[in-house]
Amino acid sequence: MAALKRPGVLGVHSVNRFIFSVPDLGEAERFYKAFGLDVRRSGQRLDLYTYGHPHCWASVHEQGEKKKFQYISYGISEEDIDAFRKRITACEPHPLSDGKGLWLLDPDGVPNQLVVGPKVSPSAKTLPVGKAQVPPGKGAAPTRSRATPVRPRYLSHVLRFTPDVPRMTRFCTETLGMRLSDKSADIVAFIHGAHGSDHHLVAFAKAGAPGLHHTSWDVGSFDEVGQGAEQMRAAGFTDGWGVGRHMLGSNYFYYVRDPWGSYAEYSFDIDFVPHDLDWPAADHAPEDAFYVWGPAMPENFVTNYEGQ
Ligand SMILES: [Fe+2]
Repeated sequence: MAALKRPGVLGVHSVNRFIFSVPDLGEAERFYKAFGLDVRRSGQRLDLYTYGHPHCWASVHEQGEKKKFQYISYGISEEDIDAFRKRITACEPHPLSDGKGLWLLDPDGVPNQLVVGPKVSPSAKTLPVGKAQVPPGKGAAPTRSRATPVRPRYLSHVLRFTPDVPRMTRFCTETLGMRLSDKSADIVAFIHGAHGSDHHLVAFAKAGAPGLHHTSWDVGSFDEVGQGAEQMRAAGFTDGWGVGRHMLGSNYFYYVRDPWGSYAEYSFDIDFVPHDLDWPAADHAPEDAFYVWGPAMPENFVTNYEGQ
């Protein structure tokens, strides 16, 4: 089936991949395996897949003294490459990349790759996994001793730190052809793909320097959000935030803190914005920007450990 497109809009359709580096690849391998991803080592690099999906969502390189967000790669349609080439000011490909596609710097100086590829963002609301019918007299809760591991289904979004949220928002909408979903003043902005995507494909939070705040991975049920949290606690990754529910995006969440002070999010039931719907973007009060309910947000939740 041909991917749905918003007519007349030149825009990226997916986050093809995100790429960052860490000091110790072994630590990254332990974290993401415990999280439930299909982690494949390739020399001094890890590639992150979700089980049952052919796409590679992320690459992690071993480099430097601390975690560093390196670049982001967006998926575009074949017929759009010439128009994008005309629109952008090209830069050199990132040295850790395959060099393919088009390259440009975003306003934070981070390289962005535009590469022709399949639309890996959802094109319809993602359905929950079916609930097993439980006969009368049998408990509905899963068995703790025989819990099946939680395995995310796909990468939903990437939230980055930026010194200038409005500037990054303009870049995403005007140059990359995405659309604003919701924002709160100049503190945070959530942005979706014009050709249909989750409520946010990328999002930006204000900080003194660029960085990676969290990546979010869709799971099939509310139960899996809680079981994911438990799975990570059992693996020794005890710090996090949740379980709770966001207002902007509506998803249920649990964020587990990774070894470098950023987060991986289990997300369930995020709002979907179809390719033919104009989402009513709004500016929300700061107290609505983070959550509807859940435990208090940890004090260091929005600390950028890649630079203040
Ligand atoms: Fe998120």
